[in-house]
Amino acid sequence: MSILVTGGAGFIGSNFVLDWLTQSNEFVITLDKLTYAGNRENLQSLNGDPRHVFVQGDIGDSTLVAYLLAQHQPRAIVNFAAESHVDRSIHGPEDFIQTNIVGTFRLLEAVRAYWGGLQSDARQAFRFLHVSTDEVYGSLGKDDPAFTEAHRYEPNSPYSASKAASDHLVRAYHYTYGLPVLTTNCSNNYGPYHFPEKLIPLMIVNALAGKPLPVYGDGQQIRDWLYVKDHCSAIRRVLDAGHVGEVYNIGGWNEKPNLDIVHTVCVLLDELRPRADGKPYKEQITYVADRPGHDRRYAIDARKIERELGWKPAETFETGIRKTVQWYLDNQAWVDNVTSGAYKQWVGKHYGDA
Ligand code: NAD
Ligand code: DAU
Repeated sequence: MSILVTGGAGFIGSNFVLDWLTQSNEFVITLDKLTYAGNRENLQSLNGDPRHVFVQGDIGDSTLVAYLLAQHQPRAIVNFAAESHVDRSIHGPEDFIQTNIVGTFRLLEAVRAYWGGLQSDARQAFRFLHVSTDEVYGSLGKDDPAFTEAHRYEPNSPYSASKAASDHLVRAYHYTYGLPVLTTNCSNNYGPYHFPEKLIPLMIVNALAGKPLPVYGDGQQIRDWLYVKDHCSAIRRVLDAGHVGEVYNIGGWNEKPNLDIVHTVCVLLDELRPRADGKPYKEQITYVADRPGHDRRYAIDARKIERELGWKPAETFETGIRKTVQWYLDNQAWVDNVTSGAYKQWVGKHYGDA
């Protein structure tokens, strides 16, 4: 038995693959294009492990995907592969359309052909799990109820629009062709191997480097934060017990304004790695221009997955963020490697000299 994990060298995908192989001996094929966000080093601990194979390639490469499916005969696919950063989608949406929409379409086509050729039992047992985001539901007002699975789609950025399109394709492949799909929509993840273009790792890395901590607009935008290992356990649970064709929202029950997040990171660093001059890290906070079309608030109602599948997050924000800050302090070499070259160009382009 095996599973195919796409995007498994990225932030959540690599946590998922590592986590999977601590829980089971089932063979994993990781397919990843290794864009700027994908990093072989994330899976370094699996080098030489007979339960894992890494393949560099594109989910949109139909020939390659068909070959991998025929060769390994996976019983499930977990699709993490995507362009994932909202700000990059604003600077240049093309890659988001190509991977998140066209790539998902080609992946679905290859999977449909493979699944159609399976024996009856294997066809029944097969699952295609598509990992999506709460951003497809749009932005909430301060007192609006949290997103349920029935919330209408109202994506506001090129990123979320491309993810919404992929969700619709996945849904259509179930209704039209009977492909046994599952979709998960989750909130903001944080934890180890998070690429430092996203809020939490960017703040940790910039703080330690003595650089400004760029807060967009008034910093009062709200996100729900989910520790990445909780997300991994939720996906395992949905894969095991989710009802075919269903959507499950996954959240951490941790709604917080961005400025609170940045302050928490600063206070933890003050404790764990005080500044040489004894001043608090919060002095580095700098307000910068807001993100165009910035969604004000996301909140996940995660009661369905708890009620139907018995899953809820294990970490509070306080325990998860402490582990995360400590991980970055302990893994400076990883940070140095991912922040060289192309990363510097992105930071220069997006933040100027900030
Ligand atoms: P990431 O950007 O860290 O990783 C994406 C991975 O996909 C990278 O390894 C990249 O090389 C790979 N990839 C990109 N294009 C590819 C292609 N065409 N073919 C094969 N591989 C390709 O992203 P992440 O934060 O780990 O997110 C993973 C998934 O979870 C995405 O689908 C994202 O939309 C979704 N999601 C993320 C969050 C979050 O907070 N990070 C929250 C909700 C949903
Ligand atoms: O909600 C799920 C989504 O969470 C995922 O689908 C995306 O893939 C993931 O990137 C994330 O999107 P966000 O836009 O919410 O995450 P980001 O870390 O980019 O930003 C979090 C908040 O922090 C957001 O309100 C913008 C703000 N921000 C971000 C950066 C990078 C800043 O204020 N300053 C920054 O420099």
